[in-house]
Amino acid sequence: MASGPQVSRRTALGWLAGGVAAGAAGARFGFSSGSGGELGDVAGARNLTGDEARAALETFVPGGVYDEYFIFSSGGHSGQIMVYGVPSLRLLKVIPVFTPDAWQGYGFGTDQGNLVLDGGVDSAKSNTLRWGDTHHPALSETEGDYDGRFLYINDRANGRIAMVDLRDFKTKQILDVPNLQTSHGGCFVTPNSEYVHISSMTPCPVTESGYAPLSRYKEDFRGFSTWLAIDQEDGRFDLERSFQIELPPYTQDLADAGKLTSFGLGFINSYNTEMATGGNLHGGHADPSKSLESAATSNDYDFLHIIDWQRAEEVVAEGGTRIRNGMRVVPLETATSEGILHFAPEPRNPHGVDVNPTGDYICVAGKLDPNGNVYSTERIRAAIEAQDYDGTDGFGVPILRLDSVLEAQVELGAGPLHTQFDDQGYAYTSLFLDTAIAKWSLGPKAGHGEGDAFKLVEKIPVHYNIGHLVTAEGDTVHPDGRYMVALNKWSIDRFPPVGTLHPQNFQLIDIAGDSPRMLSDAPIGNGEPHYVQMINREKLTHVIQVYEPGTDPMTWKRSPFAIDAGEERVERDGDEVVVYMSAQRSHFTPDTFETKVGDLLRLHITNVEQTPDATHGFAIPAYNIEASIDPGEVVNIDLTLDRAGTFAMYCTEFCSALHLEMQGWIEVAPS
Ligand code: CUA
Repeated sequence: MASGPQVSRRTALGWLAGGVAAGAAGARFGFSSGSGGELGDVAGARNLTGDEARAALETFVPGGVYDEYFIFSSGGHSGQIMVYGVPSLRLLKVIPVFTPDAWQGYGFGTDQGNLVLDGGVDSAKSNTLRWGDTHHPALSETEGDYDGRFLYINDRANGRIAMVDLRDFKTKQILDVPNLQTSHGGCFVTPNSEYVHISSMTPCPVTESGYAPLSRYKEDFRGFSTWLAIDQEDGRFDLERSFQIELPPYTQDLADAGKLTSFGLGFINSYNTEMATGGNLHGGHADPSKSLESAATSNDYDFLHIIDWQRAEEVVAEGGTRIRNGMRVVPLETATSEGILHFAPEPRNPHGVDVNPTGDYICVAGKLDPNGNVYSTERIRAAIEAQDYDGTDGFGVPILRLDSVLEAQVELGAGPLHTQFDDQGYAYTSLFLDTAIAKWSLGPKAGHGEGDAFKLVEKIPVHYNIGHLVTAEGDTVHPDGRYMVALNKWSIDRFPPVGTLHPQNFQLIDIAGDSPRMLSDAPIGNGEPHYVQMINREKLTHVIQVYEPGTDPMTWKRSPFAIDAGEERVERDGDEVVVYMSAQRSHFTPDTFETKVGDLLRLHITNVEQTPDATHGFAIPAYNIEASIDPGEVVNIDLTLDRAGTFAMYCTEFCSALHLEMQGWIEVAPS
């Protein structure tokens, strides 16, 4: 195990051999009685089976020793990202993204939090939008491997995307993506982080007013595939270099980037190619046949969107775009005529599309189709080259012949959704209805020859109703094949009752051996995770624990408002009161200051400490201010003082023995 500080380690193996193997009385089964079996005694006293005791030993991570992997988990409509260690499945941190977080001083009066949160707000929603629905985290990559620099995640509710800097695990940018109203599964990073992709889920009206009657859905609504260029230094989105590709008004869903042999391509699933818009209450009664659900599942095939983003780059560079809401957009007819966009039929209402590590196989799983459908990159490229079309859709997009591009179909089970990969050429597909994971083999290009290619190997039961799943480094060109986590939507009876809203259940599965083994359950009690990505912790080489003295975390430079100890001061200029404050165990300097109603108070607080973990908080509860000031950090707060009073302020972080003494006063005299 990759460890942290080297602690003195018992040679556990010897103890194990004398314990579990020699066993003790009382275990349900799996242990034989014997002398010196301390572990066996413990397992027996706790009524653990041999497999359970083994799993406990395999997943226990002592203090001072570090988990081998991190998973970055979407928090669903909690609007956050959760960071868990693997194999312990301990929660290490919650990163606030679209939702304020008081502990981290995100969204309670500090400029950083407010700037980030307001930066991603549609002006129509003013500054009241304070939630999002995080779905699909995407780690930055170099040559197809996670590089531990940046993390992106979409807001399914509002068509936004956020960037988290993995140097300090803080959200640095939220972008309200032009021309998107909502975005579900379209998030991925290309193999060298050239682009982060995000597509629309519900198509948008493209009329001047933004209104169009649903009766004009086909004519006036469009989807958009968005390619956001990334600044390689700071990870932020660069709209100047970004572009969109206009798509028909189908519902674009999950997506993945081509890699290696499929590098340069992007794949997006779609459903509702029927273009159903609902209407089951029309006529004064509920007509199920008119419901969106019913009408959107009537076609036998939907369309896998195949996008050549390198070709799109050329067309964009040649000026083949229109500007729409500040974004360069390749019109649908251009995307079609210039060979940027092709369709391939896929069994109806697909969900996941996942490219295998070699880039040769594109695995599509359909909610209503029991198969894993494997498309071949080689076949797709050949069919495009030969213009091997089976006509076009209603918008003129060429449809590749299914027989030409489909390599294999493998019957997996009921409700297949998402696929992940190991290092042995196996695929793992979640089966929502079977509440299981199907392990199956890929083909020759993934090392499985005649006889054992494209075969279901086994099904692993999970508890219950699995959505996504993830394997270690499973979206990269080099999966580790070590661990898999099932993201189960229902936990039902797995945990003690905690009221009517149940936690979800992550289950850790060991996939290193021939047959996968269930290791542990972990209740997820602070959000509704959709997807996670799992990265080897040693790749997070950029993580810092202390900022350089006087750092503004938004710029990574020394803040113009930073001070060193001894430089504290209060400057008054008319109605503006500027306070340069330091925070240091266990006092603020200054710890009192005099103002009056009508003043604009500008607080610049520098944590002048350089000791890891010596974070201070700063709260003025009367004015709803709460900041976290980490070692070396500068926090800025602008406050219009509109109420007279003598208000307490205090440090919210238990920083020292005299933490309670770290307090002060702000006098706001009547004007
Ligand atoms: Cu500083 Cu408590």
